[in-house]
Amino acid sequence: NENKNDCGKWASSHIAMRINSFVPTRHRPKFVLGLPTGSTPLPTYNALIRMYKAGEVSFKDVITFNMDEYVGLPREHPESYHSFMHKNFFDHVDIQPENINMLDGNAGDKSLAALTEECRAYEEKIAAAGGINLFMGGIGPDGHIAFNEPGSSLKSLTRIKTLAYDTIVANSRFFDNDIEKVPKMALTVGVGTVMASDEVMILITGFNKAMALHMCIEEGINHMWTVSCIQEHAKAVVVCDRDATMEL
Ligand code: GLP
Repeated sequence: NENKNDCGKWASSHIAMRINSFVPTRHRPKFVLGLPTGSTPLPTYNALIRMYKAGEVSFKDVITFNMDEYVGLPREHPESYHSFMHKNFFDHVDIQPENINMLDGNAGDKSLAALTEECRAYEEKIAAAGGINLFMGGIGPDGHIAFNEPGSSLKSLTRIKTLAYDTIVANSRFFDNDIEKVPKMALTVGVGTVMASDEVMILITGFNKAMALHMCIEEGINHMWTVSCIQEHAKAVVVCDRDATMEL
């Protein structure tokens, strides 16, 4: 696509088309959608909200699973992924609160054991919903998908992850440019969790993602650029703008 707004239009039409053509089964009674945060998916969320308001798509029978969440950041913090999703998407469409699933970065007593249990239970919830129809994702400039930082196992499942220094620096723009304020750990779905979905759609926009797009599709599968895993997926689509293609 020409620019990020066109990417948002394409991605939102694709999601709506999948939801509207979904056929429920006993195993998967509702459409299951995997969702990311970040600035990249914002045009897609805006376009989906417009489509919902125009009666072109409904989320009444959609179950969502978000990719990741910071550890230890209060849920109400404006930069928590929980706040992000409500502000930018959930509060504007007809999704049922009980169908929204997000990792809790403050689970239990926040001990390693409690957070590990939260991650295990999340995988179980995904399985109970019948698995994910479509996982939408963004990537970091270092090619990470969700918070699967360089070096993550391509078979990984939902778990606790220490953030890479580059990610902390990149995300400090949301925390007064102060890297001290950026949480250092996150809960994230694994590369294996994303790969287990029926379909993966990755959004890549902007010059700063150009190297990552090149590593994603033109080099070999490499756990240092975790998004390259999608080369092995039977049904994967990359939605990118012209700026992101500069290294192709
Ligand atoms: C964070 C998220 C990723 C997201 C990335 C890119 O690291 N955990 O899921 O893809 O940010 O964010 P942006 O789209 O703002 O570049």
